[in-house]
Amino acid sequence: MKIGVVGSGYVGLVAGACLADFGHEVICMDVDEKKIDDLKKGVMPIYEPGLDDVVERNVRYKRLSFTTDIDLTVKNSDVLFIAVGTPPKDDGSADLQYVLAVASDIGKHMNGYKVIVDKSTVPVGTGQLVKKTVNGELKKRGVSMDFDVVSNPEFLREGKSIHDFTHPDRIVIGCESEKAGEMMKKVYRVLYINNTPFVVTNIETAEMIKYASNAFLAVKISFINEMALLSEKVGANVQEIAKAMGMDGRISPKFLHAGCGYGGSCFPKDTKAIVDIAAKNGLEFKVIKSAIEANEIQKMKMVEKIVDSMGSVKGKTICVLGLTFKPETDDMRDAPSLVILPELIRKGAKIKTFCPQGFKEAKWRLAEYSDSIEYCNDSYEAASGSSAVVILTEWNQFRGLDLERIKTSMKDNFFFDLRNIYSADDSIRKIFKYSGVGV
Ligand SMILES: NC(=O)c1ccc[n+]([C@@H]2O[C@H](COP(=O)([O-])OP(=O)(O)OC[C@H]3O[C@@H](n4cnc5c(N)ncnc54)[C@H](O)[C@@H]3O)[C@@H](O)[C@H]2O)c1
Repeated sequence: MKIGVVGSGYVGLVAGACLADFGHEVICMDVDEKKIDDLKKGVMPIYEPGLDDVVERNVRYKRLSFTTDIDLTVKNSDVLFIAVGTPPKDDGSADLQYVLAVASDIGKHMNGYKVIVDKSTVPVGTGQLVKKTVNGELKKRGVSMDFDVVSNPEFLREGKSIHDFTHPDRIVIGCESEKAGEMMKKVYRVLYINNTPFVVTNIETAEMIKYASNAFLAVKISFINEMALLSEKVGANVQEIAKAMGMDGRISPKFLHAGCGYGGSCFPKDTKAIVDIAAKNGLEFKVIKSAIEANEIQKMKMVEKIVDSMGSVKGKTICVLGLTFKPETDDMRDAPSLVILPELIRKGAKIKTFCPQGFKEAKWRLAEYSDSIEYCNDSYEAASGSSAVVILTEWNQFRGLDLERIKTSMKDNFFFDLRNIYSADDSIRKIFKYSGVGV
């Protein structure tokens, strides 16, 4: 099957490479010339474990190619995936300009029946808007052509996206025609024959499934973070609470890890977008609004915890380990570090930091604080001369630090484990003035 993927970012590139691995002929298109040039040279524009191998293999077998040419992409594809960004606008609503620009490009270049698949996370009603936009372009051209719009939201997690795309819990397909539904089954044939559950529904329901799923997970995180705050006050251990809660089959242990607040390219924007969609439909989504508010509070509580424990951070150096919003990615979009570092700096701290993949993004996102941030080559360099260590992202390499070595090089011995990676290890409390989250 010939597939075009428009937008070659975290989702589009992974989807394109994996669909090529399923045996399809895939063109990944992007407006970013540097990204496409790099991809043609075999240079990955993002850090995603395993992606380079899948890309290299499929380029070698000539099933995967890269272009900035939308005309070529549209004309040579039976199925076109839209995988461009849907960032939040100032009012929280999803910015659809990129999705609709692609829809109008498709309408301008279409040469026959196409299935147009919305892979981007979009508000309910966008499928119909895409249809209208394509029809508008066809009308301008004075031509009439059949096409179908499908909503096929993506649930992959950065850092594990190759596994998630190839082993999804379910494939959601929202469509209005049997023909499009059948074509989508062919796109995912490898998964279909492997008994992956397929949820086939209408476009509006598929669009809602994605927001409902992300909002639910965000609520779960904010819920356990509030339990962590209370646990600290009453001498309870949130890790054990979460473990016991998770043993209840109705609850599940996933997404019950207390920490410094959720971040990333999905939860913050998708929670705001669903609240906005609800408001536009005359509803106030109080649960999700509270989860958003609790998440903002959680980040500030972490700063408060550090400042209160240390007395003051003025003139002190703090070693921050991990800047990305989660491990195994270079993605810094809405990472808690973007709130916590500036706040500590405003209170007079200097930062020494190490992150395995976050520096490129962090350096421009935190550019206005560059005088107060020193980017170090490893954890030990970052800890040296610092008064406190703060773990912000649970990269595996931070789980096995030589704690004695760290302590010896520090000026004081505060250790703030904002991901609870050492919370079960009593020995750390003998070396450091240790605090986790809710433990
Ligand atoms: N990142 C995730 O973990 C994740 C997971 C599930 C769903 N999503 C959703 O997938 C969508 C894409 O997210 P992402 O993280 O891949 O974004 P991204 O910013 O990494 O990638 C988007 C790409 O689209 C390109 N683009 C913009 N306009 C274009 C156009 N007119 N034509 C061609 N290319 C264009 C950009 O240059 C960029 O490379 C979003 O709606 C997001 O919410 C993301």
